[in-house]
Parts: sequence; structure tokens; C-alpha cells
Amino acid sequence: MDQKYDHTNQILSLLENKESINSLQIAQETNTNHQELVGYLLQLEASNYITTEGLKKDQLVLTEEGNTILNSQSGEYEIYQKVPEGGISMADLQKQFGIEQAPKQKQEQGEKKEKQPEDPKKKLFDLGFGNAKKMGYIKMEKGMINKVANDLPDKIKQELQQFNEIKLGSPQAKLLIERKLASISTIKYFEVKKGVKYSPKFREQFAALTTEQLLNGEWKDCDYKSINLNAEGEKISMGNLHPLLKVRKQFSQILIGLGFEEMATNQFVESSFWNFDALFQPQKHPARDAHDTFFCNDPELSEEVDTQLRDKVKSMHQTGGVGSIGYQYEWSHEEARKNILRTHTTAVSSKMLYRIAQQYKEKGYFPKKYFSIDKVFRNETLDATHLAEFHQIEGVVIDKNASLGQLMGIIREFFRQIGINKLWFKPTYNPYTEPSMEIYGYHPILKKKVEIGNSGVFRPEMLAPLGIPEDVNVIAWGLGLERPTMIYYDIRDIRTMVGPEVKVETVRSNAFCVFESK
Ligand code: PHE
Repeated sequence: MDQKYDHTNQILSLLENKESINSLQIAQETNTNHQELVGYLLQLEASNYITTEGLKKDQLVLTEEGNTILNSQSGEYEIYQKVPEGGISMADLQKQFGIEQAPKQKQEQGEKKEKQPEDPKKKLFDLGFGNAKKMGYIKMEKGMINKVANDLPDKIKQELQQFNEIKLGSPQAKLLIERKLASISTIKYFEVKKGVKYSPKFREQFAALTTEQLLNGEWKDCDYKSINLNAEGEKISMGNLHPLLKVRKQFSQILIGLGFEEMATNQFVESSFWNFDALFQPQKHPARDAHDTFFCNDPELSEEVDTQLRDKVKSMHQTGGVGSIGYQYEWSHEEARKNILRTHTTAVSSKMLYRIAQQYKEKGYFPKKYFSIDKVFRNETLDATHLAEFHQIEGVVIDKNASLGQLMGIIREFFRQIGINKLWFKPTYNPYTEPSMEIYGYHPILKKKVEIGNSGVFRPEMLAPLGIPEDVNVIAWGLGLERPTMIYYDIRDIRTMVGPEVKVETVRSNAFCVFESK
């Protein structure tokens, strides 16, 4: 372990009795390459052992040529050494440097002299030769080259050996720069100070506690990296529920908790009979108008319902019964058979009531609580708060003792569980309920009174033809799913909840729907 931290420990001990130290000093004192040192410094800084501050300055550095001389000798000195005692001719000296003597060419009259490509060795030799003369190493005597004196030192090399002492801007520095043996370069370095976790010896920081460390007790002497609890976790790629489904799930959970059973709603196409006629809605009712209802072309008409049931519904519409005079009009069989996209989930409830009445014949009376949540369709003009398809939640209670008071009680409890406490009931009209009540609630998020549902006691004119005994009461209420979802998830435009407008990312990031009950 220690060997691995040799460098880091050296750095830390250098700092032990000092306020600060710069990275160039450290590099020199630890005999480390500066670039390598920076790596160690950053590592120490990350562990808070030290702090660093970036600095820069100009520095004299050796050029490649300067370095070559430092590692061997200068060109002029090489020439000086090759001059023997007693002198040497230029041609012989050049031969020693591998320079071929160009044969003298006779020049033909009128012929242009061809330019010989310059020999790099010759160029270097000429330079060194010039310098050797200038530096007083050699002299020319009677056409021969001679040493000026024996045992002269390589002055340039000596100078370069003292390179570290040469100050930037000094005449020596200028000379080296002129001779291209040194140049100025800006270097970046660091001012290093003790950090909050400084200690003269580095302790490895482990990322995690291992079984091994626990078993051999090593953990007692180990340092562990602190965990960044604010670090963002990796995104998990998986399926997500659409906000409507999240709210829907929550609603069904509340209703199940209140003892309601879910009805099968898997049928978008319904006959007008179950959607309207069985609900004692007159055939001339504006809601059936082509503006509100989507009628189907193919098949246009639905299958026959039980003829007994059909005739009972027909006579209730035409002449009434159970104390009512009905609507007094000619009921059309064909109109009732028209296929439509169901306009409300009460179509599911009417069918269910007929089925329950059938069961009463066999098993006798039993109370029931049902609910449904599913899609309905209306031919609306689309805007930020209206779609042609939306969801309804409906609750139905079939009970001899069911009353308006109980209906209000169930509604209060249901809304309490989704965090809406203040409720108002306002009388209204539905063809199939009497009395009927619109439900208003004080919305804690919107901070105002909003209409949140509709409700009522199903009329005897509706229940009697379906076969529900006269002493059995059926209370029901319904509300939309989109509105509470939009409020809960702060969705401003209903159109962004369906089709290509849905943003997958938003669906992903939406939290679970958990209503806070008061
Ligand atoms: N069907 C009604 C609507 O679409 C809601 C409702 C359901 C009203 C049950 C009374 C009873 O608005």
C-alpha cells in the first residue's frame, strides 16, 4: 500500500511544515515530472488533502537542440576535437564529418550552372566551423586549420549545465535564445496548500466497505469516501402508467375500499336502448341529437334485446306506469336499436341492473355496490378542456334502504378520500334520476368551488321495466376522470393527454397519484 502512495506521501510531507508550496518546487524536490505531479495533486485535492490554485509564468526552456548539446556536446566543440596537432586541411576535416568533396565541374560556355542541392551535413559543419572560430577554438594558418590551444572546455555545454541558474531576461538567456538553444514558454503550475482533510500521510479512501474488511477488522483503520446523496441516480428504463391510469387506479382503490365491485366496461359500442331508452330518456331528447352522439354506420343497428324488456320500456315511455304518465309519444323500435359509441357509463349500469333483476328471480333480493371507470364518447368541439372521448367514474348502490342521505354520505366519503372536504349539492335534472344533484366541491388546489359530479336516485320509471322490485332503491353518482387528473398533475390542456401530444418524458417523470385525505 505504501509504495503505491510514495509520491502522494512525499508531497504531503513537503507541505507538513509549510503554509504553501508550488508545484514546480515539488516537482524539483521530489524529482518528478511536472505533468505527472499534476495528476497526483488533483487526486489529493479530490480527497480534500490539499487545495490548489492555478498559476502561470514564463520560463526559459531548452529547445531540442539545446537538449542534444546538453546530452553530448556542441557542434563547434566536436570540430575542435577533430583538429589534430599540427593542423588539418579543410578537405580532410570535412571528410571526417562525412562530407564528400564535389568534383570541380568544367563549365561549358553558355551552359547555366546547375544548382547543387545543399548537403545538410555541410550546412551544419559550416555553422559549427564559424562558431569554432568565433569562440576561439580554432584558427587558420597558411591554409591549414589549427587548434588555438589544447584542452579547451566545451563552453556552451558548460553553460547549459548551469541552465537552471540562468535568469529570464539575462544576457546569457538572450544569447541562448538567439542561438535557438532555449526559448520562452508559459508554464502552468499550482500553488498548493493544506486541505481540510490534510494529514502528512495519505490514507486510502475506499468507495465501499467490503466483506473482507469486516472479517479481518481492517475497516477500523480505513477511510471511506463520503457518499454523495445528492447525486442523480441512473434513469431506469421501464414502462410507466399514463397520468389518467394513475388517477384511475387510485379511484378504483378507494371504491374497492368502500366495498364496491367493478363492472365490466369492455364495450365502447352500445345500442341506444341501453344508453338512452332503458334510462328513460325520451327519443326526442337533445342528447341523442347527432351533435352529441356518435352514431355507427356499420352495423347501424344492434341485435334485438329481450322482447319482453323492450315492450316494458316502450310502454313506460309511451304511457307510463308506477304512478307516471310517461312521455306520451310514439316510441320507435328502430331508434332504440341504433348503434352508438356510449355517451356515459350509466349505459353499463343499466345493463347491470337488468342482470341483477334477473338474478333476483332465482336467488331473491341481495344488496350490491358497483362501480365502473372507463371511456365514453361525445361529439364535442375540442378545446383545452373538452375532448370527444373522456372517462367517467360511476358508482351505483342497490339497496332497499338506499336513500338520498346515504348517497350524500357515500359521495362525501369518496371525495374526502381524494382530499375534497367541502361539498355542495345543487338540484338538477336528469331523465333517469329524481331527485338529481350536481356535486360541487371546494378545490383545495384551485382554491375555488368547482362542479365535480352529478348524482341522483334512479327513477321508478327506469327501474320498473328492468325488473328491479319496487321496494329496492338504486342510488348513483358519476364524475369525470380527466378533470381531477389535470388538477392533480397540473395539466393545462386536456389535448396533451391523448394521442401524439402525449410527452413520454412527462409521463415518465410524473409521480404516483396519492390523494391526501383530510
Ligand atoms: N350519467 C351522468 C353523466 O353523464 C352521471 C350520473 C351518473 C348522474 C349516475 C346520475 C347518476 O353526467
